[in-house]
Amino acid sequence: MTIQFNDETFRGDYTFKNSQWAIDRFPFPFHEDNYMYSVNMEQHQGGPEGSVYEKRFDVDEHYVSEMKDRAQVLAEDPLRCQSLPHMTLAGWDLLELIMVSKSEDYPDLFELHRDGNHWHWINKPMGIDQRFTFMDETTLPYGPMEYITRQTQGDFAVLDQRDDNLWMDAGMVTTQADWSLDFDIGMNFFEWHAPVPKAHEMGIFVRALKFLLNVQQGSPARRLNWTMTVNPLLDTSPENYHKWGVQKTTLTPENVGQKQHLRVELQTFFRLPRSNALVFPIRCYLIALEDVVSVPKWGRRLHRVIRDLPEELATYKGFIDNRPLIVDYLSKFDDGLATSPGI
Ligand code: HEM
Repeated sequence: MTIQFNDETFRGDYTFKNSQWAIDRFPFPFHEDNYMYSVNMEQHQGGPEGSVYEKRFDVDEHYVSEMKDRAQVLAEDPLRCQSLPHMTLAGWDLLELIMVSKSEDYPDLFELHRDGNHWHWINKPMGIDQRFTFMDETTLPYGPMEYITRQTQGDFAVLDQRDDNLWMDAGMVTTQADWSLDFDIGMNFFEWHAPVPKAHEMGIFVRALKFLLNVQQGSPARRLNWTMTVNPLLDTSPENYHKWGVQKTTLTPENVGQKQHLRVELQTFFRLPRSNALVFPIRCYLIALEDVVSVPKWGRRLHRVIRDLPEELATYKGFIDNRPLIVDYLSKFDDGLATSPGI
């Protein structure tokens, strides 16, 4: 289908909105009526047609506006994009992966023409037409990772693999759920996950790392994560907490359906060919509670998940104070019917 790109904002007047198409394909993350951390990984080799899993890098109606928001974040805070010197090769790997994937998966929107190292990239939605020499940084306006991730939805952590661990040595992070690339840069898998409650004791990170160290080229993996955000804000960073933290106090019984958003991250893992780095795209999908409850089985299930979520998780995810309000709103859409496993 041809995508109609929205002209919308994720700050200020918050004109972000999901069309019925976007609601229908929203990656609702709950398979049962309760939630606990797990090593919920599966292969990322496509999915149902039209779903967010179908393509390697999903492009949707929010694409152009999300890229404008990213540019604005970077103009205010260039440290949201960092790459340690040894990660430039991984940046080229990533540029290649995204350009090849997007031009194959969305030929009407993106074109890549290659003649040896002479490459020609056309990004129609963003009006970009760029000729450059592959592996020659001087022929692009930014480094390769920054260049391509300014044109790709989602955050990106690029991990160096050494000493049986992963190291966050590069990234583009402007749409994150309250963590900081500038703080985490140079950390390893266990260090950057240190603030997460319960999962360490459950052995989740040891098992997850083992899985990730063995991800092979051409066999990407994926998982979903989720949290809650007041207002459709992409940039919920610690750096800007003073701007968005206070917005959590503006929820009322009247506006909760419209203002409170479920925030779902489609996280994927790709091995990169030359550098052997692992890239971790984190794609954020937002949906207002009033749109969640338009699907009865989602409304019913979300009520039970949020109501029964362990206190440590609700605290870590940052909505413990608003939980009673949210549960009260959602309870009106829970008719008490039994739900079946699956989505
Ligand atoms: C949270 C990065 C893979 C499980 C986080 C956080 C970061 C992060 C930065 C936020 C920590 C904070 O509060 O400061 C990454 C990166 C990965 C990766 C770069 C890829 C290499 C995984 C995998 C799993 C996992 C494979 C589990 C199977 C979690 C969980 C949380 C978390 C459960 C808490 C999320 C929440 O409750 O909202 N991760 N992660 N991560 N990560 Fe990862």
